[in-house]
Amino acid sequence: MSTTSSTFNPGKGNGEPVGIAILGHGTVGSEVLRLLNKYEDDLVHRIGGAFELKGVAVGDLAKVRPGVPKELFTDDAMELINRDDVDIVVEVIGGIDYPHEVVLAALRAGKSVVTANKALVAAHSAELAEAADEAGVDLYFEAAVAAAIPVLGPLRRSLAGDRVLSVKGIVNGTTNFILDAMDSTGASYDDMFAEAQRLGYVEADPSADIDGHDAASKAAILASLAFHTRVTSDDVYCEGISNISATDIKAAQSAGYTIKLLAICERLIDDNGQETVSARVHPTLVPRSHPLASVDKSFNAIFIEAEAAGRLMFYGNGAGGAPTASAVLGDIVGAARNKVHGGRAPGESTYASLPIADFGDVETRYHIDMEVDDRIGVLAETAAVFSDRGISLRTVRQEEGGEDHARLVIVTHKAKESDLAATIESLNNLPAVKAVNSVIRLEGE
Ligand code: HSE
Repeated sequence: MSTTSSTFNPGKGNGEPVGIAILGHGTVGSEVLRLLNKYEDDLVHRIGGAFELKGVAVGDLAKVRPGVPKELFTDDAMELINRDDVDIVVEVIGGIDYPHEVVLAALRAGKSVVTANKALVAAHSAELAEAADEAGVDLYFEAAVAAAIPVLGPLRRSLAGDRVLSVKGIVNGTTNFILDAMDSTGASYDDMFAEAQRLGYVEADPSADIDGHDAASKAAILASLAFHTRVTSDDVYCEGISNISATDIKAAQSAGYTIKLLAICERLIDDNGQETVSARVHPTLVPRSHPLASVDKSFNAIFIEAEAAGRLMFYGNGAGGAPTASAVLGDIVGAARNKVHGGRAPGESTYASLPIADFGDVETRYHIDMEVDDRIGVLAETAAVFSDRGISLRTVRQEEGGEDHARLVIVTHKAKESDLAATIESLNNLPAVKAVNSVIRLEGE
């Protein structure tokens, strides 16, 4: 495998090629290596200078890696990072603690960093951005959100002159696969989760996908860039999909909706004009006519609304080796170009420092499915619980339940999370209510 190009070589100004080190050789790292080699001649022209792969750090040197010269591998990441001829460090290891250590070391050693690690960026953005600023180097992470879909670049650059109002999207392919399969086949959550696992979609720690943590990290990154405010994964309200049943999917279908796990980042403005930022991840009913409803299988899509630009939608592959490597390569070209020609990528901007909204103050609509006694006056008793909290009902549908009970499906107008939570508590204490089966938020109208 050739790792050096001599076709075009102004290098970094001193005639030396831009040195690249890769940390990790898993699904993404091996694809980055393959594509760097495959597109080498083109990349040299796009960078405007030669580059050279200096090494690949791995955990297990004994593992057989066909097609890659053995001498490229090392198990000493720190030594590789600190080499004088390494200018760009590409982190594709995954996890948080060890990548945190090596990425910080790389930035502090004056190396630009390209990472695909959403959990790392969402947890430690402040420290990493500060280290990059102090060293005057680049920190790129396009692949961390929705892999191949270019969404961070547009937020950082193309929309830098606009005012973003909201970013809403499907940013986890595994949960979208499961919900889409439940929607199209009527199958149970457990069966479709097993199918997603069989196909290799689910992360080694399934909770990252199904409990929404992966999407929450991405929401934190999107909200930070959209609202020029530091948002970490701890600021994101997060609910996963494991409680979604085939009955919920069917109820959604009969009302004209589909259920998606959405990451929702919004700029909220209260009655006094105070702006806050809300970032949340939860299963959401989306009208079938909404563009996000047609995002099927394991695809991702992000919907951005900005004051001047209006509505923008980004769609594509949000996971997988090659799609993630595509975004990593784009960042490598950007960082390498800056090494050759000077200048830096647009960095983090958190000047707005908007407060994070209290989740109880967030307003949305709700779809509530419950079992009630089937007798005179129950509808009025139930409706009174909502009106006591100032929640207005949009639709009420009663269906036959069992022998002595009925199924009531209520859709509310916009209401505050805190009021809705109190309403559900009161409903659970109302003798006429046998069970509140599900409460699912509703977006997109
Ligand atoms: N597990 C993630 C997904 C991979 O399903 O989208 C990309 O972060």
